[in-house]
Amino acid sequence: MSRQKIVAGNWKMNKSLQDAKMLVEMITNQVNDFDEVTKIIIPPFPYLNTISEQLAKKENFFLGAQNCHTNANGAFTGEVSANMLNSVGCHYVLVGHSERRQYFKEKEADFVLKIKEALKNNISPIFCVGETIHERKTDNHFKVITEQLTTVLKEFTVTEFSKFIIAYEPVWAIGTGETATAAQAQEMHAFIRGIITDIYDSAIAGNVSILYGGSCNAQNAQELFACKDVDGGLIGGASLNADDFCKIIFSF
Ligand code: 13P
Repeated sequence: MSRQKIVAGNWKMNKSLQDAKMLVEMITNQVNDFDEVTKIIIPPFPYLNTISEQLAKKENFFLGAQNCHTNANGAFTGEVSANMLNSVGCHYVLVGHSERRQYFKEKEADFVLKIKEALKNNISPIFCVGETIHERKTDNHFKVITEQLTTVLKEFTVTEFSKFIIAYEPVWAIGTGETATAAQAQEMHAFIRGIITDIYDSAIAGNVSILYGGSCNAQNAQELFACKDVDGGLIGGASLNADDFCKIIFSF
């Protein structure tokens, strides 16, 4: 996958099926012709199949899932496999999101297995990393991001990594209304590209899309997306409103 401009909407645990369908309709109507940006809709599991059908004929719109299990199938009540996600038309899956780390105690070993399953099923991982406010205030943010990336990426070959998207989501900016400044985002995105250069090489690092997430909205997206190493956004709250999400897409 080559470096792209991407806006992804992570709806988290929000919306009814009826509201979800309407939101997709409103978004696709507004931005369907703007095909220079790859748009990814990441709804809750029960709506994937319906939204997959809605997106099928749209320009440069793709479906993502918020999670997948580490196993292909079996007795794992309540879980969803990458194989199932593929069968309903998913092209992307979030892995390593801070809410999965915090509330579900997922660790690097889980992320590696989930990503392996995703890749086996032709699904690209959107691998999320980010530091807490304590880690930033104690000047440990670069160390934390280095560890989060290297422990997982060392398990993947260049060919496997070429399917990845990286999302930098500072935990202190998620759902708080507080956003990283453009300078802070650019600094960390360039740092992440540097780590990827060290693990693989500069051509690989130059090719990966690195998204910013954390209170990215219709007001600040333009400034964030103007940064050299910011290739787009992983949007939470603002992706639940069609006008806001479309403004973010038009912010490139
Ligand atoms: P907010 O945009 O609501 O801060 O959420 C960001 C996020 O977690 C996207 O995955």
